[in-house]
Amino acid sequence: VGHIDDVQELRKTQSTTVPDRFMRDVDEIDSVISDSPISKDVPIIDLSKIAKGSYDEIIHLASACEEWGFFQVINHGVDTKILEKMEKLSMDFFKQPIEEKQKYKMAPGTVQGYGQAFVFSEQQKLDWCNMFALGIHPHFIRNPSLWPTKPLNFSESIEAYTREIRILCEKLLRCIAVSLGLRAERFEEMFGEAVQAIRMNYYPPCPRPDLVLGLSPHSDGSALTILQQKQGSSIGLQLLKDNKWVSIHPIPGALVVNIGDTLEVLTNGKYKSVEHRAVTNMVKDRLSIVTFYAPSYEVELGPMPEFVDESNPVQYRNYLHGEYSKHYVTNKLQGKRTLEFAK
Ligand code: SIN
Ligand code: FE2
Repeated sequence: VGHIDDVQELRKTQSTTVPDRFMRDVDEIDSVISDSPISKDVPIIDLSKIAKGSYDEIIHLASACEEWGFFQVINHGVDTKILEKMEKLSMDFFKQPIEEKQKYKMAPGTVQGYGQAFVFSEQQKLDWCNMFALGIHPHFIRNPSLWPTKPLNFSESIEAYTREIRILCEKLLRCIAVSLGLRAERFEEMFGEAVQAIRMNYYPPCPRPDLVLGLSPHSDGSALTILQQKQGSSIGLQLLKDNKWVSIHPIPGALVVNIGDTLEVLTNGKYKSVEHRAVTNMVKDRLSIVTFYAPSYEVELGPMPEFVDESNPVQYRNYLHGEYSKHYVTNKLQGKRTLEFAK
């Protein structure tokens, strides 16, 4: 994706149309603006209730994971100042001149830096989004030359943010284990030195939200994904529920959590990774900050014995997480197709 395909640059020159490269086929976009009238919203989980030992909230979490694969978490313990600072500095990053951002340009065949990953041909449609991604943990996945020197303190902020979010991921995984009837540490013990990556998605306003997608439909390859949406952003994240796209209405201060492919495989499909996408808005922009949390690459995954019996036969094969991760990043985002790898 060069300058000409950079959506923030396009905004400056084109005010009523979008280039071909972004225009979706009708069948891909027909439901973009007709937000489904389902009034039910994703469940809200109060982590402070779980911390106080509420079994009801664990049950609530179990049904959120099973029925939705998505929930918003409140009273999650992540310092508001850290969240706000991250929002502010991410916005400052995207607002910089393109020349500054291109210093961190994503190299072909890689998934870190400024640019769109998952694009493999000139024909492939592009998403109406600018992205900046970094590997965080373990340190060997980092590419230090991609850590921004501007805006000032952005890199420090990413460091502080990802440290806090990692703690939240660990907490959530313990709660999720308990919600499945497992020992709290079951996933932690299996995951080893968990892999963590971050991606910031900036969606400028789009003159034709009815013709484009902000982010193509996909499920996440992670075990868990934690998503923060900038205050005042347009509504944009949608998940596929009962074959309808349902918007997630951000609650101030809450974080959105979703189950990734890895937990679907481990639980033999009891908890599913749910397909989601982002749409754009004609007047408002949107920023999301997304953390992916997954097992160490050398961990062998497959349905856990606890979820396999006569009425629940094995649905996925065994494989190394590193193999899955490689498969995921070398294929375009296309619904849940990546998970075919595990079948
Ligand atoms: C994602 O699925 O990675 C992010 C979607 C969003 O921007 O909300
Ligand atoms: Fe996602």
